[in-house]
Amino acid sequence: MAGAIRFFELNTGAKIPSVGLGTGQAAPEVVGDAVTSAIKAGYRHIDCARFYCNEKEIGCALKKLFDDGVVKREELWVTSKLWCNDHAPEDVPKALETTLKDLQLDYVNLYLIHWPVSMKKGSEGFKPENLTETNIPATWRAMEALYDSGKARAIGVSNFSSKKLGDLLAVARIPPAVNQVECHPEWQQPKLHEFCKSKGVHLSAYSPLGSPGTGSIKSQVLKNSILNMIAEKLGKSPAQVALRWGLQMGHSVLPKSTNEARIKENFDIFYWSIPEDLFAKFSEIKQERLGKAAVFVHETYGSYKTVEELWDGEL
Ligand code: A2P
Repeated sequence: MAGAIRFFELNTGAKIPSVGLGTGQAAPEVVGDAVTSAIKAGYRHIDCARFYCNEKEIGCALKKLFDDGVVKREELWVTSKLWCNDHAPEDVPKALETTLKDLQLDYVNLYLIHWPVSMKKGSEGFKPENLTETNIPATWRAMEALYDSGKARAIGVSNFSSKKLGDLLAVARIPPAVNQVECHPEWQQPKLHEFCKSKGVHLSAYSPLGSPGTGSIKSQVLKNSILNMIAEKLGKSPAQVALRWGLQMGHSVLPKSTNEARIKENFDIFYWSIPEDLFAKFSEIKQERLGKAAVFVHETYGSYKTVEELWDGEL
């Protein structure tokens, strides 16, 4: 598929820029410079979350970029996410207010339920006893109110299986615009991809490089032999090919980097494409979910006793 693929249209009619800077695991000391480098390199989409503990620093960088006239608010797409301990309907608007204050913004372009997992109000950390029963329809109604208020110009979810997304669509007044999930050449999610497509829910890919660095998700995706063979043939880096694959699949991609050279490299994916014969090779890549999120699963506490239940068998 040729073409630049700069945006995808959401079910709200808004256009989400196809490449966003991921900011998860970007240390607060360096995230501001990463955001500045990205925007100067042409990125118009920053993917944030309260859980990443760096929204204040991102907010300071954005303010300076606006003040200096580098970018205008209306040219920029900012996503943030509701953390699991703020699922109680009365906490949802407060959580967005905190995020908006930290980001120094009046609205976010997209606000997502970060996980289909609820933790007790005010609880911190990942202790099993913090897990509590989820009530996604109730949380979603509070998300819909944020959409009505204009403070979240689109609303969506993250880490939802096809089943959980279907259950939500069945009760939603405003359907989710986006499901942001792990997606890369070694975890392509064909079932979820088809389901999202059939329902008009845009799939956004986190860990689009398979998170090769440190952290909870570690992988060898960028070393994959098929990916490397394609990269060599095209004269591109494995990271660029992984990202371009995402765009050609119709997914927005959210590569995280705090390194200026890699930030630029990850954005240089518009003026070339993976030809059909090489694109077909991706179907031969062995599949494995990297982030199983076993931390959200417990025999006694919360809504899910097993990872199979959390992902509804999509493992
Ligand atoms: P760094 O921030 O030092 O660039 P993902 O987006 O899949 O979660 O992957 C993020 C990880 O991939 C980070 O450790 C990041 O490190 C690294 N990374 C980002 N861009 C590239 C690239 N073009 N090539 C190799 N590693 C990259």
